Amino acid sequence: MCGIVGYVGERRADRVLLNGLRKLEYRGYDSAGIATLVDGEIQIRRAVGKLDNLEEALGDVGLVGGIGIGHTRWATHGRPSEQNAHPHRSGDVVLIHNGIIENYVELREELAGDGYEIISETDTEVISHLIHRQLERGEPGGLFEATRAVLSLLTGSYAMVVMTSREPGVLVTAKNSTPVVLGVGDGESFIASDIPALLEYTRDVLFLEDGELARIEGGKIEVTTFDGTPVDREPRRVSWDPVTAQKGGYKHFLLKEIHEQPQAIIDTMRGRVAQDTADVVLPELDALGDRLGGIEKMCIVACGTAWHSALVGKFIMERFARMPTEVDYGSEFRYRDPLVDEKTLLIVVSQSGETADTLAALEAAQKRGAPVLAICNVVDSSIARKADAVLYTHAGPEISVASTKAFTTQLTALYLLGLHLGRRTGKIDKDLEAECIQAIVEIPRLVEQILQDTEEAIAKDSRLFSQTDDFLYLGRGINYPIALEGALKLKEISYIHAEGYPAGEMKHGPIALIDEFMPVVVLIPRDEVYGKTLSNLKEVESRGGRIIAITDGADDELRSIAESVIEIPQTSTSLMPLLLAIPLQLLAYYVAVERGTDVDQPRNLAKSVTVE
Ligand code: G6P
Repeated sequence: MCGIVGYVGERRADRVLLNGLRKLEYRGYDSAGIATLVDGEIQIRRAVGKLDNLEEALGDVGLVGGIGIGHTRWATHGRPSEQNAHPHRSGDVVLIHNGIIENYVELREELAGDGYEIISETDTEVISHLIHRQLERGEPGGLFEATRAVLSLLTGSYAMVVMTSREPGVLVTAKNSTPVVLGVGDGESFIASDIPALLEYTRDVLFLEDGELARIEGGKIEVTTFDGTPVDREPRRVSWDPVTAQKGGYKHFLLKEIHEQPQAIIDTMRGRVAQDTADVVLPELDALGDRLGGIEKMCIVACGTAWHSALVGKFIMERFARMPTEVDYGSEFRYRDPLVDEKTLLIVVSQSGETADTLAALEAAQKRGAPVLAICNVVDSSIARKADAVLYTHAGPEISVASTKAFTTQLTALYLLGLHLGRRTGKIDKDLEAECIQAIVEIPRLVEQILQDTEEAIAKDSRLFSQTDDFLYLGRGINYPIALEGALKLKEISYIHAEGYPAGEMKHGPIALIDEFMPVVVLIPRDEVYGKTLSNLKEVESRGGRIIAITDGADDELRSIAESVIEIPQTSTSLMPLLLAIPLQLLAYYVAVERGTDVDQPRNLAKSVTVE
């Protein structure tokens, strides 16, 4: 995580950098800093906490100059402090970094032996000294070659940008495992961790690959591999609209993104559902070629909210394609010596396409011969590039740290995939297929209806429940992962402890927690286990628990025991997760607003976790 930006051109660098950092603040906000070259001198400003503090430190004067670098930090090595904030400086060299330098302890010792004083507790500072040392040793190739030489000394992950007053118009950037995207302008260039930071200035972007570095001077970008081989890569035009990356009248990005879901689901389905033939068309899978035909099982790997999509995905794949499907966390997968081979389809799910654990799982599976399909939102992200095939969700930029529209579009993509594979293998039940194809195209309208019909009531409910310490979320079957996701959303943005549980398991533990202070949110659609879930709720009621029920058809009994009933429209029971997720997002949002937390940038979290 951490966000990095760089600029060289005719504009005031400090403004471009601050602007870019605003778009990247979701990656971390423990501290921020920028450095520019003013009259040949390096000027640095850094501040602990959010970008507002840095802006205040810059005052009205700012840091003039047409070249600079900026950073927003998610602390790994060293607490959030001004001293540990980037940019880090060594004499006339200044540097920003996202990632982790694993051998920094040895490098510190070596540098101390050479007379360098290490000021911060970070793993990053050593890189600036190493580059400075290389320049001082008379490196003839200047900053670019000095950086290239230093890269061979580093173990770990990095996206870095470095600048020196010895070469006033030049930035050098390098990538290994964490993202770097270059923005191509007219006589100017931009560097960032992610596309939204560039959108205001250019839509022509160029992604660096692992093991590549670039020398940037004005509008001239030269890319080579670490061994010095020139790389010839044309920029790509991205279709994201800069306006989608702004709040557009909503109080928070989160609320805006919740409301964007009907459109995001439409965009994810566009061109993929052929209603006339009742088929799902996914030409993206062609990239897997014959390998798809030999698949005997599937494994879905993801982290965080995407892991909850994966859990729903297991139900989808087993129900539609009748294929055994496992689910694992990105951070666990490769450490359990997974039983995957060329007969296993590995599906990775990731909004950002940059999550280090998910990426590592992808690589581990590929090493074992498994074909990899990515379900991903960010075009050309590391995961999208490394996977053998990509099914893009078209959620557009998701800025709020807590994921909402990325989640429901991931579910949409998984449904489409399940339906497609079900038909391809001939294993799907024909009635189920017809029911789901018909129902899925109705989902965006139903999501819109839920937003219209329930938002006010949920906002009101959230006032009743916002001051409690714990929440329990219950669901069953395919809706159990939605209970987990509801609990995660609440935890992330309101800091209330919440747990998701399969409703039938409640009696084996969590029931001990239930008292008159404990809100229990239950997902209780009118499916085959409605009666059983109702019995579970009776157990909650008799212990004084406060029930919030979300259902597509409450009977009198449910109404009599629930303190609040949120009604949603009906759909196929298989597609219910797509609808049930929405009220839970709204509930988490309004509870957080009620508690006055920082909804879009909750404490300690980051949107894109590019460290393991
Ligand atoms: C972080 C974010 C979560 C996200 C997870 C996986 O923890 O805070 O919202 O679900 O990473 O991210 P990905 O980009 O791989 O979906």
